[in-house]
Amino acid sequence: MYDLAIIGGGPGGYVAAERAGAAGLKVVLFEKKSLGGVCLNEGCIPTKTLLYSAKVYNYAVNGDHYGVYVKDPAYKYEEFVSRKDKVVRKLVGGIKAAMKGFKVEVVNESAMIQGRSAEGITVSAAGTDYVARNLLVCSGSEAVVPPFPGLKEAGDVIVTNREILALKEQPKELVVIGGGVIGMEFAAFYSTLGTKVTVVEMLPKILGPLDDEISTMLQGIYAKRGINFCLRCKVTGIEGNTVVYEDPEGKVCRVSGDKILVSVGRRANLQGFGLENLGVEMTLNKAGRPVGIKVDEKMRTNIPGVYAAGDVTGFSMLAHTASREGEVAVNNILGKADRMRYNAIPGVVYTNPEVAGVGLTEGEAKAKGIDFTVVKLPMAYSGRFVAENEGGEGICKIIVGKKYREVLGVHMLGNPCSEILAAACIAIEGEMTLEQLKEVVFPHPTVSEIIKETAFSLK
Ligand code: NAI
Repeated sequence: MYDLAIIGGGPGGYVAAERAGAAGLKVVLFEKKSLGGVCLNEGCIPTKTLLYSAKVYNYAVNGDHYGVYVKDPAYKYEEFVSRKDKVVRKLVGGIKAAMKGFKVEVVNESAMIQGRSAEGITVSAAGTDYVARNLLVCSGSEAVVPPFPGLKEAGDVIVTNREILALKEQPKELVVIGGGVIGMEFAAFYSTLGTKVTVVEMLPKILGPLDDEISTMLQGIYAKRGINFCLRCKVTGIEGNTVVYEDPEGKVCRVSGDKILVSVGRRANLQGFGLENLGVEMTLNKAGRPVGIKVDEKMRTNIPGVYAAGDVTGFSMLAHTASREGEVAVNNILGKADRMRYNAIPGVVYTNPEVAGVGLTEGEAKAKGIDFTVVKLPMAYSGRFVAENEGGEGICKIIVGKKYREVLGVHMLGNPCSEILAAACIAIEGEMTLEQLKEVVFPHPTVSEIIKETAFSLK
Protein backbone atom coordinates (compact mmCIF):
# COMPACT_ATOMS: atom_id res chain seq x y z
CA MET A 1 0.00 0.00 0.00
CA TYR A 2 1.33 3.43 -1.01
CA ASP A 3 0.43 6.75 0.59
CA LEU A 4 0.53 8.47 -2.77
CA ALA A 5 0.51 7.41 -6.41
CA ILE A 6 1.44 10.10 -8.93
CA ILE A 7 0.71 9.86 -12.64
CA GLY A 8 3.15 11.98 -14.65
CA GLY A 9 6.76 12.89 -13.88
CA GLY A 10 6.81 16.51 -15.09
CA PRO A 11 7.32 19.56 -12.85
CA GLY A 12 3.93 18.91 -11.25
CA GLY A 13 4.55 15.24 -10.55
CA TYR A 14 8.24 15.06 -9.72
CA VAL A 15 8.21 18.08 -7.40
CA ALA A 16 5.18 16.64 -5.58
CA ALA A 17 7.02 13.29 -5.34
CA GLU A 18 10.06 15.03 -3.83
CA ARG A 19 7.99 16.92 -1.26
CA ALA A 20 5.95 13.84 -0.36
CA GLY A 21 9.07 11.65 -0.14
CA ALA A 22 10.80 14.26 2.04
CA ALA A 23 7.78 14.20 4.38
CA GLY A 24 8.13 10.43 4.74
CA LEU A 25 5.23 9.32 2.52
CA LYS A 26 5.53 6.10 0.54
CA VAL A 27 5.29 7.30 -3.06
CA VAL A 28 5.05 5.61 -6.45
CA LEU A 29 5.49 7.77 -9.55
CA PHE A 30 4.43 6.61 -13.02
CA GLU A 31 6.12 8.12 -16.06
CA LYS A 32 5.74 6.52 -19.48
CA LYS A 33 8.38 8.66 -21.23
CA SER A 34 11.15 10.54 -19.50
CA LEU A 35 11.23 12.11 -16.03
CA GLY A 36 10.97 15.88 -16.26
CA GLY A 37 7.98 15.87 -18.60
CA VAL A 38 7.48 18.42 -21.36
CA CYS A 39 9.33 21.13 -19.43
CA LEU A 40 12.58 19.27 -19.22
CA ASN A 41 12.45 17.14 -22.36
CA GLU A 42 10.69 19.22 -24.98
CA GLY A 43 9.87 22.60 -23.46
CA CYS A 44 11.45 25.03 -21.01
CA ILE A 45 14.92 23.58 -20.65
CA PRO A 46 15.81 22.59 -24.23
CA THR A 47 14.45 25.86 -25.62
CA LYS A 48 16.32 27.94 -23.08
CA THR A 49 19.52 26.02 -23.89
CA LEU A 50 19.13 26.74 -27.61
CA LEU A 51 18.17 30.36 -26.97
CA TYR A 52 21.26 30.83 -24.83
CA SER A 53 23.50 29.48 -27.59
CA ALA A 54 21.86 31.93 -29.99
CA LYS A 55 22.41 34.74 -27.47
CA VAL A 56 26.13 33.93 -27.20
CA TYR A 57 26.36 33.95 -30.99
CA ASN A 58 24.54 37.28 -31.02
CA TYR A 59 27.06 38.70 -28.53
CA ALA A 60 29.85 37.58 -30.86
CA VAL A 61 28.16 39.24 -33.84
CA ASN A 62 27.57 42.47 -31.92
CA GLY A 63 30.80 42.41 -29.91
CA ASP A 64 31.90 45.66 -31.52
CA HIS A 65 29.17 47.48 -29.52
CA TYR A 66 31.28 46.66 -26.47
CA GLY A 67 34.70 47.13 -28.03
CA VAL A 68 35.14 43.42 -28.74
CA TYR A 69 35.93 42.38 -32.30
CA VAL A 70 35.18 38.77 -33.25
CA LYS A 71 36.41 37.87 -36.70
CA ASP A 72 33.85 35.97 -38.77
CA PRO A 73 31.54 34.88 -35.95
CA ALA A 74 30.10 31.47 -36.75
CA TYR A 75 28.07 28.73 -35.11
CA LYS A 76 27.45 25.05 -35.67
CA TYR A 77 23.75 24.27 -35.47
CA GLU A 78 24.38 20.58 -34.78
CA GLU A 79 26.47 21.58 -31.75
CA PHE A 80 23.61 23.72 -30.45
CA VAL A 81 21.44 20.62 -30.70
CA SER A 82 23.96 18.26 -29.09
CA ARG A 83 24.55 20.71 -26.22
CA LYS A 84 20.79 20.93 -25.72
CA ASP A 85 20.58 17.11 -25.58
CA LYS A 86 23.47 16.99 -23.10
CA VAL A 87 21.81 19.55 -20.80
CA VAL A 88 18.52 17.62 -20.90
CA ARG A 89 20.30 14.31 -20.14
CA LYS A 90 22.11 15.86 -17.20
CA LEU A 91 18.96 17.33 -15.67
CA VAL A 92 16.90 14.17 -16.22
CA GLY A 93 19.71 12.33 -14.42
CA GLY A 94 19.40 14.85 -11.60
CA ILE A 95 15.70 14.11 -11.18
CA LYS A 96 16.35 10.36 -11.23
CA ALA A 97 18.88 10.82 -8.44
CA ALA A 98 16.48 13.02 -6.49
CA MET A 99 13.73 10.37 -6.76
CA LYS A 100 16.14 7.82 -5.39
CA GLY A 101 17.20 10.19 -2.62
CA PHE A 102 13.59 10.74 -1.56
CA LYS A 103 12.85 6.99 -1.82
CA VAL A 104 10.24 7.50 -4.53
CA GLU A 105 9.52 4.35 -6.53
CA VAL A 106 9.60 5.30 -10.21
CA VAL A 107 7.69 3.08 -12.63
CA ASN A 108 8.69 3.82 -16.23
CA GLU A 109 5.46 2.54 -17.71
CA SER A 110 2.07 3.74 -18.86
CA ALA A 111 -0.31 3.89 -15.89
CA MET A 112 -3.99 2.97 -16.00
CA ILE A 113 -6.38 3.93 -13.20
CA GLN A 114 -8.55 0.90 -12.42
CA GLY A 115 -10.87 2.39 -9.83
CA ARG A 116 -11.38 3.17 -6.18
CA SER A 117 -12.40 0.82 -3.39
CA ALA A 118 -12.40 0.83 0.42
CA GLU A 119 -8.67 -0.03 0.37
CA GLY A 120 -7.68 2.80 -1.91
CA ILE A 121 -7.14 3.73 -5.53
CA THR A 122 -5.76 1.04 -7.83
CA VAL A 123 -3.41 1.99 -10.65
CA SER A 124 -1.98 -0.70 -12.90
CA ALA A 125 1.16 -0.57 -15.01
CA ALA A 126 2.78 -3.36 -17.03
CA GLY A 127 0.54 -5.99 -15.44
CA THR A 128 1.16 -4.96 -11.83
CA ASP A 129 -1.43 -3.36 -9.55
CA TYR A 130 -0.43 -0.54 -7.23
CA VAL A 131 -2.86 0.50 -4.48
CA ALA A 132 -2.55 3.95 -2.90
CA ARG A 133 -4.50 5.99 -0.36
CA ASN A 134 -4.16 9.09 -2.53
CA LEU A 135 -3.71 9.77 -6.23
CA LEU A 136 -2.24 12.89 -7.81
CA VAL A 137 -2.86 13.27 -11.54
CA CYS A 138 -0.18 15.31 -13.32
CA SER A 139 -0.62 14.01 -16.85
CA GLY A 140 0.23 17.33 -18.48
CA SER A 141 -0.78 18.62 -21.89
CA GLU A 142 -0.04 18.26 -25.59
CA ALA A 143 0.18 20.69 -28.48
CA VAL A 144 -3.10 21.53 -30.21
CA VAL A 145 -2.83 20.91 -33.95
CA PRO A 146 -6.01 22.18 -35.61
CA PRO A 147 -7.27 20.15 -38.57
CA PHE A 148 -6.25 22.73 -41.20
CA PRO A 149 -7.15 21.43 -44.68
CA GLY A 150 -3.99 19.97 -46.24
CA LEU A 151 -2.22 19.56 -42.90
CA LYS A 152 -1.89 15.77 -43.09
CA GLU A 153 -0.56 15.86 -46.66
CA ALA A 154 2.12 18.36 -45.62
CA GLY A 155 3.83 15.55 -43.62
CA ASP A 156 6.98 16.42 -41.73
CA VAL A 157 7.01 20.03 -42.94
CA ILE A 158 4.62 20.54 -40.03
CA VAL A 159 6.27 20.63 -36.62
CA THR A 160 5.17 21.36 -33.05
CA ASN A 161 7.43 22.33 -30.14
CA ARG A 162 8.46 18.67 -29.95
CA GLU A 163 9.59 17.97 -33.51
CA ILE A 164 11.21 21.37 -34.01
CA LEU A 165 13.58 20.63 -31.13
CA ALA A 166 14.73 17.46 -32.86
CA LEU A 167 15.55 19.11 -36.22
CA LYS A 168 19.05 18.23 -37.32
CA GLU A 169 19.24 21.19 -39.68
CA GLN A 170 18.31 24.81 -39.32
CA PRO A 171 15.34 25.73 -41.54
CA LYS A 172 16.11 28.46 -44.06
CA GLU A 173 12.56 29.73 -43.93
CA LEU A 174 10.17 29.14 -41.06
CA VAL A 175 6.47 29.94 -40.86
CA VAL A 176 5.09 30.12 -37.34
CA ILE A 177 1.34 29.71 -36.92
CA GLY A 178 0.44 31.39 -33.62
CA GLY A 179 2.42 34.27 -32.13
CA GLY A 180 2.13 33.10 -28.53
CA VAL A 181 4.93 32.14 -26.17
CA ILE A 182 6.14 29.06 -28.04
CA GLY A 183 5.83 30.78 -31.41
CA MET A 184 7.76 33.85 -30.33
CA GLU A 185 10.55 31.94 -28.58
CA PHE A 186 11.23 29.82 -31.68
CA ALA A 187 10.80 32.84 -33.97
CA ALA A 188 13.39 34.69 -31.86
CA PHE A 189 15.81 31.76 -31.85
CA TYR A 190 15.74 31.11 -35.58
CA SER A 191 15.69 34.74 -36.66
CA THR A 192 18.86 35.34 -34.59
CA LEU A 193 20.50 32.62 -36.68
CA GLY A 194 19.37 34.17 -39.96
CA THR A 195 16.33 32.02 -40.75
CA LYS A 196 13.66 34.02 -42.56
CA VAL A 197 10.72 33.92 -40.14
CA THR A 198 7.06 34.79 -40.69
CA VAL A 199 4.61 34.78 -37.78
CA VAL A 200 0.94 34.37 -38.68
CA GLU A 201 -1.27 35.35 -35.75
CA MET A 202 -5.05 35.67 -35.77
CA LEU A 203 -5.24 38.26 -32.98
CA PRO A 204 -4.29 41.94 -33.45
CA LYS A 205 -1.20 41.39 -31.25
CA ILE A 206 1.45 38.82 -30.44
CA LEU A 207 1.66 37.30 -26.96
CA GLY A 208 -2.05 37.81 -26.29
CA PRO A 209 -2.33 37.95 -22.49
CA LEU A 210 0.80 40.10 -22.08
CA ASP A 211 0.82 43.84 -21.44
CA ASP A 212 -0.14 45.52 -24.75
CA GLU A 213 2.57 48.18 -24.73
CA ILE A 214 5.29 45.61 -24.02
CA SER A 215 4.17 43.14 -26.68
CA THR A 216 4.01 45.99 -29.21
CA MET A 217 7.57 47.04 -28.25
CA LEU A 218 8.83 43.48 -28.60
CA GLN A 219 7.14 43.08 -31.95
CA GLY A 220 8.78 46.32 -33.13
CA ILE A 221 12.22 45.09 -32.04
CA TYR A 222 11.86 41.79 -33.92
CA ALA A 223 10.24 43.43 -36.96
CA LYS A 224 13.39 45.60 -37.22
CA ARG A 225 15.46 42.42 -37.09
CA GLY A 226 13.54 40.98 -40.01
CA ILE A 227 10.63 38.90 -38.65
CA ASN A 228 7.57 39.33 -40.82
CA PHE A 229 4.45 39.64 -38.64
CA CYS A 230 1.04 38.93 -40.18
CA LEU A 231 -1.46 39.94 -37.52
CA ARG A 232 -5.26 39.56 -37.66
CA CYS A 233 -4.54 36.79 -40.15
CA LYS A 234 -6.56 33.60 -40.14
CA VAL A 235 -4.97 30.41 -41.42
CA THR A 236 -7.34 28.65 -43.80
CA GLY A 237 -5.19 25.76 -45.00
CA ILE A 238 -1.81 24.27 -45.81
CA GLU A 239 -0.62 23.54 -49.36
CA GLY A 240 2.55 21.48 -49.08
CA ASN A 241 5.09 23.83 -47.51
CA THR A 242 2.82 26.87 -47.87
CA VAL A 243 0.49 28.38 -45.28
CA VAL A 244 -2.65 29.89 -46.76
CA TYR A 245 -4.27 32.64 -44.73
CA GLU A 246 -6.78 35.46 -45.01
CA ASP A 247 -5.45 38.91 -44.22
CA PRO A 248 -7.60 41.46 -42.28
CA GLU A 249 -9.24 42.59 -45.55
CA GLY A 250 -10.19 39.01 -46.42
CA LYS A 251 -7.56 38.71 -49.15
CA VAL A 252 -6.13 35.20 -49.55
CA CYS A 253 -2.35 35.23 -48.99
CA ARG A 254 0.36 32.59 -48.99
CA VAL A 255 3.68 32.24 -47.23
CA SER A 256 6.10 29.33 -47.58
CA GLY A 257 8.79 27.82 -45.42
CA ASP A 258 10.81 24.63 -45.28
CA LYS A 259 9.17 24.11 -41.87
CA ILE A 260 5.82 25.23 -40.48
CA LEU A 261 5.59 25.45 -36.70
CA VAL A 262 2.10 25.03 -35.26
CA SER A 263 2.03 26.78 -31.88
CA VAL A 264 -1.60 27.67 -31.30
CA GLY A 265 -1.90 26.47 -27.72
CA ARG A 266 -1.96 23.26 -25.72
CA ARG A 267 -4.68 20.98 -24.41
CA ALA A 268 -4.83 18.93 -21.21
CA ASN A 269 -4.12 15.18 -21.42
CA LEU A 270 -7.35 13.75 -20.08
CA GLN A 271 -7.69 10.49 -21.94
CA GLY A 272 -6.14 7.05 -22.13
CA PHE A 273 -5.30 6.44 -18.48
CA GLY A 274 -8.64 5.60 -16.88
CA LEU A 275 -9.86 8.89 -15.38
CA GLU A 276 -13.35 7.74 -16.37
CA ASN A 277 -12.99 4.73 -14.00
CA LEU A 278 -13.04 7.18 -11.10
CA GLY A 279 -15.70 9.57 -12.44
CA VAL A 280 -13.46 12.61 -12.03
CA GLU A 281 -15.34 15.84 -12.80
CA MET A 282 -14.06 18.06 -15.61
CA THR A 283 -14.07 21.77 -16.27
CA LEU A 284 -16.05 22.33 -19.48
CA ASN A 285 -15.56 25.03 -22.10
CA LYS A 286 -18.41 27.07 -23.60
CA ALA A 287 -19.03 24.32 -26.13
CA GLY A 288 -19.42 21.81 -23.28
CA ARG A 289 -16.15 20.01 -24.01
CA PRO A 290 -13.83 18.98 -21.14
CA VAL A 291 -10.72 21.19 -20.96
CA GLY A 292 -9.23 20.12 -17.66
CA ILE A 293 -9.72 18.29 -14.39
CA LYS A 294 -11.84 20.39 -12.05
CA VAL A 295 -10.02 21.14 -8.80
CA ASP A 296 -10.60 23.32 -5.77
CA GLU A 297 -7.98 25.59 -4.19
CA LYS A 298 -6.49 22.59 -2.38
CA MET A 299 -6.08 20.81 -5.75
CA ARG A 300 -8.75 18.27 -4.75
CA THR A 301 -11.00 16.77 -7.39
CA ASN A 302 -14.59 15.68 -6.69
CA ILE A 303 -13.30 12.19 -5.75
CA PRO A 304 -11.96 11.86 -2.18
CA GLY A 305 -8.22 11.18 -2.17
CA VAL A 306 -7.81 12.20 -5.82
CA TYR A 307 -5.90 15.39 -6.62
CA ALA A 308 -4.69 17.01 -9.84
CA ALA A 309 -1.90 19.50 -10.57
CA GLY A 310 -0.29 21.14 -13.59
CA ASP A 311 -1.43 21.49 -17.20
CA VAL A 312 -4.05 18.74 -16.76
CA THR A 313 -6.17 21.26 -14.84
CA GLY A 314 -6.38 23.18 -18.12
CA PHE A 315 -5.36 26.65 -16.97
CA SER A 316 -2.09 28.47 -16.15
CA MET A 317 -0.13 25.94 -18.21
CA LEU A 318 3.26 26.80 -16.74
CA ALA A 319 5.89 24.59 -15.12
CA HIS A 320 6.17 26.74 -12.00
CA THR A 321 2.39 26.74 -11.54
CA ALA A 322 2.42 22.95 -11.79
CA SER A 323 5.14 22.59 -9.15
CA ARG A 324 3.35 24.83 -6.69
CA GLU A 325 0.03 23.07 -7.34
CA GLY A 326 1.77 19.74 -6.66
CA GLU A 327 3.11 21.10 -3.38
CA VAL A 328 -0.35 22.33 -2.37
CA ALA A 329 -1.80 18.87 -3.09
CA VAL A 330 0.92 17.15 -1.01
CA ASN A 331 0.50 19.59 1.88
CA ASN A 332 -3.23 18.89 1.95
CA ILE A 333 -2.57 15.13 1.86
CA LEU A 334 -0.27 15.68 4.83
CA GLY A 335 -3.04 17.58 6.62
CA LYS A 336 -1.21 20.92 6.44
CA ALA A 337 -3.30 23.99 5.62
CA ASP A 338 -2.32 25.24 2.15
CA ARG A 339 -4.20 26.65 -0.82
CA MET A 340 -3.33 27.58 -4.38
CA ARG A 341 -3.30 31.28 -5.26
CA TYR A 342 -3.00 32.49 -8.85
CA ASN A 343 -2.61 36.24 -8.37
CA ALA A 344 1.20 36.16 -8.33
CA ILE A 345 2.05 33.62 -11.03
CA PRO A 346 4.99 34.97 -13.03
CA GLY A 347 5.18 34.73 -16.80
CA VAL A 348 8.36 35.04 -18.84
CA VAL A 349 9.04 35.02 -22.55
CA TYR A 350 12.69 34.23 -23.27
CA THR A 351 13.14 36.39 -26.32
CA ASN A 352 16.12 38.73 -26.46
CA PRO A 353 15.25 41.10 -24.82
CA GLU A 354 13.24 39.06 -22.36
CA VAL A 355 9.72 39.88 -21.27
CA ALA A 356 8.61 39.15 -17.72
CA GLY A 357 5.48 40.00 -15.80
CA VAL A 358 3.53 39.08 -12.70
CA GLY A 359 0.11 40.06 -11.46
CA LEU A 360 -2.50 42.14 -13.24
CA THR A 361 -1.82 43.91 -16.52
CA GLU A 362 -3.46 47.27 -17.19
CA GLY A 363 -6.00 45.52 -19.39
CA GLU A 364 -6.88 42.96 -16.73
CA ALA A 365 -7.15 45.61 -13.99
CA LYS A 366 -9.50 47.62 -16.25
CA ALA A 367 -11.61 44.55 -17.03
CA LYS A 368 -11.94 43.84 -13.30
CA GLY A 369 -13.12 47.42 -12.69
CA ILE A 370 -10.21 48.12 -10.33
CA ASP A 371 -9.27 51.74 -9.67
CA PHE A 372 -5.54 51.74 -10.41
CA THR A 373 -2.57 53.85 -11.43
CA VAL A 374 0.22 52.86 -13.79
CA VAL A 375 3.73 54.03 -13.23
CA LYS A 376 6.50 53.28 -15.71
CA LEU A 377 10.12 53.99 -16.44
CA PRO A 378 12.49 53.11 -19.26
CA MET A 379 14.99 50.42 -18.26
CA ALA A 380 17.71 52.97 -19.01
CA TYR A 381 17.06 54.40 -15.52
CA SER A 382 19.06 51.43 -14.26
CA GLY A 383 22.82 52.05 -14.45
CA ARG A 384 23.58 48.36 -14.73
CA PHE A 385 21.13 48.01 -17.62
CA VAL A 386 22.85 50.83 -19.51
CA ALA A 387 26.28 49.30 -18.79
CA GLU A 388 25.31 45.91 -20.16
CA ASN A 389 22.72 46.60 -22.86
CA GLU A 390 24.31 48.85 -25.46
CA GLY A 391 21.43 50.45 -27.39
CA GLY A 392 19.00 48.17 -25.55
CA GLU A 393 15.35 49.03 -25.20
CA GLY A 394 13.28 48.26 -22.13
CA ILE A 395 10.55 49.33 -19.79
CA CYS A 396 9.31 48.61 -16.28
CA LYS A 397 5.66 49.17 -15.39
CA ILE A 398 3.98 48.85 -12.04
CA ILE A 399 0.22 48.66 -11.63
CA VAL A 400 -0.82 50.07 -8.25
CA GLY A 401 -4.23 50.07 -6.57
CA LYS A 402 -5.38 53.69 -6.06
CA LYS A 403 -6.97 53.28 -2.66
CA TYR A 404 -4.47 51.13 -0.75
CA ARG A 405 -1.46 51.66 -3.06
CA GLU A 406 -0.95 47.88 -3.16
CA VAL A 407 1.26 46.42 -5.90
CA LEU A 408 -1.09 44.68 -8.33
CA GLY A 409 1.24 43.93 -11.23
CA VAL A 410 4.80 44.42 -12.47
CA HIS A 411 5.63 44.04 -16.16
CA MET A 412 9.01 44.42 -17.79
CA LEU A 413 10.86 44.25 -21.08
CA GLY A 414 14.66 44.18 -21.03
CA ASN A 415 17.40 41.80 -19.93
CA PRO A 416 17.59 40.12 -17.51
CA CYS A 417 14.02 40.75 -16.37
CA SER A 418 13.35 37.01 -16.01
CA GLU A 419 15.88 36.98 -13.18
CA ILE A 420 14.67 40.07 -11.34
CA LEU A 421 10.95 39.33 -11.56
CA ALA A 422 11.07 37.24 -8.36
CA ALA A 423 11.29 40.50 -6.35
CA ALA A 424 7.96 41.57 -7.85
CA CYS A 425 6.45 38.12 -7.21
CA ILE A 426 7.32 38.45 -3.52
CA ALA A 427 5.83 41.95 -3.38
CA ILE A 428 2.54 40.78 -4.86
CA GLU A 429 2.36 37.49 -2.97
CA GLY A 430 3.16 39.40 0.24
CA GLU A 431 0.45 41.98 -0.57
CA MET A 432 3.00 44.79 -0.25
CA THR A 433 2.13 48.41 -0.80
CA LEU A 434 4.27 50.64 -2.98
CA GLU A 435 5.59 52.33 0.19
CA GLN A 436 6.72 48.97 1.63
CA LEU A 437 8.41 48.11 -1.65
CA LYS A 438 10.27 51.43 -1.56
CA GLU A 439 11.73 50.54 1.85
CA VAL A 440 13.37 47.36 0.55
CA VAL A 441 17.12 47.70 -0.05
CA PHE A 442 17.90 46.46 -3.55
CA PRO A 443 21.50 45.53 -4.38
CA HIS A 444 23.43 48.13 -6.38
CA PRO A 445 24.28 48.13 -9.19
CA THR A 446 21.69 45.66 -10.44
CA VAL A 447 18.94 45.90 -13.01
CA SER A 448 16.50 44.94 -10.21
CA GLU A 449 16.79 48.50 -8.91
CA ILE A 450 14.54 49.53 -11.79
CA ILE A 451 11.61 48.13 -9.80
CA LYS A 452 12.35 50.40 -6.84
CA GLU A 453 13.15 53.35 -9.12
CA THR A 454 9.81 52.90 -10.89
CA ALA A 455 8.02 52.70 -7.53
CA PHE A 456 9.62 56.02 -6.50
CA SER A 457 8.57 57.71 -9.71
CA LEU A 458 4.90 57.62 -8.66
CA LYS A 459 4.13 60.96 -7.13
P1 NAI B 1 -0.31 30.44 -26.58
O1 NAI B 1 -1.68 30.29 -26.06
O2 NAI B 1 0.71 31.18 -25.80
O3 NAI B 1 -0.36 31.14 -28.03
C1 NAI B 1 -1.07 30.63 -29.11
C2 NAI B 1 -1.30 31.74 -30.10
O4 NAI B 1 -1.83 31.17 -31.29
C3 NAI B 1 -2.31 32.78 -29.64
O5 NAI B 1 -1.75 34.06 -29.79
C4 NAI B 1 -3.50 32.55 -30.56
O6 NAI B 1 -4.21 33.73 -30.84
C5 NAI B 1 -2.83 32.02 -31.80
N1 NAI B 1 -3.68 31.20 -32.66
C6 NAI B 1 -4.56 30.24 -32.28
N2 NAI B 1 -5.14 29.68 -33.36
C7 NAI B 1 -4.60 30.29 -34.46
C8 NAI B 1 -4.78 30.15 -35.85
N3 NAI B 1 -5.61 29.25 -36.34
N4 NAI B 1 -4.06 30.95 -36.68
C9 NAI B 1 -3.19 31.86 -36.16
N5 NAI B 1 -2.99 32.04 -34.86
C10 NAI B 1 -3.68 31.27 -34.00
O7 NAI B 1 0.15 28.94 -26.91
P2 NAI B 1 1.59 28.34 -27.21
O8 NAI B 1 2.53 29.40 -27.66
O9 NAI B 1 1.35 27.18 -28.08
O10 NAI B 1 2.07 27.87 -25.78
C11 NAI B 1 1.36 26.82 -25.10
C12 NAI B 1 1.56 26.88 -23.62
O11 NAI B 1 2.89 26.64 -23.25
C13 NAI B 1 1.14 28.20 -23.04
O12 NAI B 1 0.22 27.96 -22.03
C14 NAI B 1 2.40 28.78 -22.51
O13 NAI B 1 2.18 29.50 -21.33
C15 NAI B 1 3.31 27.58 -22.29
N6 NAI B 1 4.70 27.98 -22.54
C16 NAI B 1 5.34 28.79 -21.68
C17 NAI B 1 6.62 29.21 -21.92
C18 NAI B 1 7.27 30.14 -20.97
O14 NAI B 1 6.80 30.28 -19.85
N7 NAI B 1 8.33 30.81 -21.35
C19 NAI B 1 7.35 28.80 -23.12
C20 NAI B 1 6.57 27.99 -23.98
C21 NAI B 1 5.30 27.59 -23.68
